[in-house]
Parts: sequence; structure tokens; C-alpha cells
Amino acid sequence: MSHSYLKKILVTGGLGFIGSHTVVELQQQGFEVIIIDDLSNSSKEVLNGITAITQQTPAFAEIDLKDKQAVSAFFSNHSDIGGIIHFAAYKAVGESVEKPLQYYDNNLGGIVNLLLEAEKLNRSLPFIFSSSCTVYGQADALPITEDAPIKKANSPYGNTKQIGEEILFDVTQSKDIVNVISLRYFNPIGAHPSLEIGELPIGKPQNLVPFITQTAAGLHDKLTIFGDDYPTTDGTCVRDYIHVVDLSKAHVVALQRLLNQKQTSNYEVFNLGTGTGSSVLEVVQSFERTSGRSLAYEIGPRRTGDVIAAYADTSKANNELGWKTEKTLDEAVDSAWKWEQKIRGI
Ligand code: UD1
Repeated sequence: MSHSYLKKILVTGGLGFIGSHTVVELQQQGFEVIIIDDLSNSSKEVLNGITAITQQTPAFAEIDLKDKQAVSAFFSNHSDIGGIIHFAAYKAVGESVEKPLQYYDNNLGGIVNLLLEAEKLNRSLPFIFSSSCTVYGQADALPITEDAPIKKANSPYGNTKQIGEEILFDVTQSKDIVNVISLRYFNPIGAHPSLEIGELPIGKPQNLVPFITQTAAGLHDKLTIFGDDYPTTDGTCVRDYIHVVDLSKAHVVALQRLLNQKQTSNYEVFNLGTGTGSSVLEVVQSFERTSGRSLAYEIGPRRTGDVIAAYADTSKANNELGWKTEKTLDEAVDSAWKWEQKIRGI
């Protein structure tokens, strides 16, 4: 039994960093994509990048998910969608501390409005949620498994991911609106190998890899490494950096699991990481090795809210989703640098 609507997928935030890479993977697997994006942290030009890779231009609706009327009108016109991948959210940790209400309004209001409209379709829709390893805080044991306890969020941003997961879980327990897979990302980095799409941070990047590549491009004098007195091998924090293309492919696999009704419950969670932890200094060395340049950096104080070390136990994603990462840290860092050079014209 197949329905035409099974192939049409709504991707919210589809012009963002992870969203745009996922749109490409979806199109390459034969899905028709409709993007909703409010352009608050993205640009329409990303559509050209996607089209250059896949030779298909996804449909695009400029909608703010907080706008109930606009979301409702969208669903009336697209009642044949076969699934939702929900990326649209604010993601700056520091900004979320300054503007908590905007984060709760946008990140949680968006989910609620989507679910209210999905309910009207009267069928159980596959729904993939962008969650984060931030929900684990400093985990008691490494690598981190999906059943590690959720720790109190250290920012309103992190809290929106925790509450977002709870909203989705609660909905799956009472109503047949959506079947959910929450994907808990570790640290996504890199760019598409075509260099048609990549990360486009607005303002000064808070994240490590865009800061490194911007520093090498001359936008900053040096990288400040936030602390070298952590209890790790070289004293700098350890994270699990995953190539955005590997990460994006996992969304397609998760979607297919729901479309094929292979899920073991209506609410599932998977970690998406490589399983390998890398220290900040190791990322700097990866940059220096792959680019052939030395990077100016200094050691600064610790950053409030940073955990010491986080990397994924990938067994559940490997075994149950049948997905695993293929790209190395060097490939990811190299693609990020090539993308930076391209957008800066160097
Ligand atoms: C951060 C968020 C996390 C969020 C993710 C989204 C915090 C505490 N966590 O993850 O909730 O899901 O971004 O992308 O902000 N570093 C430096 N110098 C820099 C920038 C970073 O030394 O200029 C170090 C950090 O201390 C950290 C590592 O690099 O050890 C990675 O930092 P970052 O890229 O910001 O990611 P997370 O903090 O892991």
C-alpha cells in the first residue's frame, strides 16, 4: 500500500545549517520537500545552493511558526504532507540567557503550533525532532547512552530542547497525532562537499569550528580556548564533532523508519554522534593539519556552562537505525575551512 503523500516532507528551518543539508539528502533519496523558514537566521539564497546540488528547487514558504494563522493556512494547502522534520528554532546559548522568553516562545510555540495543525490531519504523522546532547548535561558516565539521566538544563536554550522532548512525548502518550523520533545531536560541524551549502553564523560565532575558520580567514585575531585545566588528557574540553552530512543522513533514515512503521514505540530517542571524543586542542590540530596553516590561539578562562566531556554511545543508532558516521574529524574540519574560504572569496 502506498500513498502519494508519503513522499512529501515538511522541513521546518530547512534553510538553516542542518536543515539545508537534510533537504539535500531527502531530495537525493526521492522525497519531495517543502521548507518552512522565517529567515531569522538563514537566507533565501540557500535555496540556490540546494538546487545547485540536487537540480531540484524545494518548495519554500516564508512562515514564522509562531504565526498560528499562517501555519494553519499552510496546512490547509498541504494536507498531503507525509512527515515533518522540525529544525526551526533559536540556538544561541548565550542569547537564550539574555532573552529567555523569546526562546520559550519561539522554540516551544513552534512545536505546539505544528502539533495543533498536525492533529487536524487525523492521521499519525512521522515527526523528527532536533534535540541535543545538551539534555544530558555533564553525564555521569561516558560514552553517553540514551538512557543517561536528563540533567537540569544549564540555559533556556537547553531547556527548550528538554521541554520540547517532553511535549512530544506527552502528545504521543495520549493522541495519535505523531510518531516521534528525537535525535540528540552532539556537535555538528562541516559543510557539504560540493561547497554549495554550509554554516552561515550571524555575528560572532559562539561555536568552536566556525570561530576557528573565521579566525584563519582573518575575521578575528585569535581563538580563545576556554580553559586548559579540565580533567581531560590535554586539559581542554572534549566533544563529539560530527560531520553535518553524516548527521543529515540520519534524519532520512529515521524518517524512513517511521514511514515503514519500524519504530518500537511512538516516541523514540537516538544519539547522533561519532562515538569519539576530541579535545579543543585536537580540533585545532586537525585544522592545522588539514589546512597546512597555523592557527593563532590563546588559553583563556573557562566558559560558564561548559561541560568537561561529552561523546556519544552510538550503539543504539548503529544497531536500531542501521546508521553510522562515515566521515572523519579531519574531513569535517577540512570541509568547514574550504566553505569558509569560498564564502570569503579566498
Ligand atoms: C554548544 C551548546 C550546546 C548546543 C550547541 C549547538 C554551550 C555550553 N553548549 O555546545 O548546548 O547544543 O552549542 O551548537 O554553549 N570553545 C573554545 N573557544 C571558542 C568556542 C568554543 O574553546 O571560541 C570550546 C568550548 O569550550 C567547548 C568546545 O569548544 O569545549 C565546543 O564548543 P561549542 O562549539 O560552543 O559547542 P558546545 O559548547 O559543545
